[in-house]
Amino acid sequence: MEEKVEDDDESNLDDLTTLSHHLFGNSSNCDDAHSFSISIIENIRKDGEYGMFVWPCSIVLAEYVWQHRSRFLGSTVVELGAGTSLPGLVAAKLGSNVTLTDDLSRPQVLANMGKVSRLNNLKCEVVGLTWGLWDHPLFNLHPNIILGADVLYDTCAFDDLFATVTFLLQNSPGSVFITSYHNRSGHHFIEFLMVKWGLKCAKLLDGFSFMPSSKTPALSGNIQLAEIILGES
Ligand SMILES: C[S@@+](CC[C@H](N)C(=O)[O-])C[C@H]1O[C@@H](n2cnc3c(N)ncnc32)[C@H](O)[C@@H]1O
Repeated sequence: MEEKVEDDDESNLDDLTTLSHHLFGNSSNCDDAHSFSISIIENIRKDGEYGMFVWPCSIVLAEYVWQHRSRFLGSTVVELGAGTSLPGLVAAKLGSNVTLTDDLSRPQVLANMGKVSRLNNLKCEVVGLTWGLWDHPLFNLHPNIILGADVLYDTCAFDDLFATVTFLLQNSPGSVFITSYHNRSGHHFIEFLMVKWGLKCAKLLDGFSFMPSSKTPALSGNIQLAEIILGES
């Protein structure tokens, strides 16, 4: 469901800014003690930032987080390339301590991440983190769980992304990177990257295998979800 939203920053006022609502729970009844809804501010301008739109991979990863909710209570979570941040916000709602990150050079996306966190009464930290850059904030992050929805889409950025992921996994022993991505060329490219960076796949799922039927009409393509950990050294 989408509705128009007023933006408090006049420079961003745009009639393509909308509010979408995403329900998590076993029924459509929000009174169910375990159900909740997350609201997201999106901007659907065609020439806009990728991080201002809820991509299908993010709907798949957010649902996976919800279905694995016991893992998220009390966890420390970092979402990479979070954009509109649906998976990270679900983790925060489930009791994780969440840091939402996106490219340092995209202030509009970072500002929106703070807005959606406040809109949902959550206290997520927002940090500018560009993949492959060794900036100060990266060294302070010790997540149990790293999330990334649709962050494997530009082959030029794959090595930078995997360099950052590998650093975070090494900096936090026992941690896991959970990512959802469009599988456009078989699983080969991700296998190649894992071997190159000394990582291994602990779990690989077809995104549609666990999505409730009410959410599949919003999805298209071949979306996979992988849990990636450090390989044996
Ligand atoms: C396709 S969007 C996915 C956004 C969100 N995760 C989702 O699925 O709705 C890719 C995201 O990665 C971010 N991104 C792209 N290149 C990046 C980089 N080099 N460092 C950090 N973030 C980057 C973009 O700003 C954008 O938010």
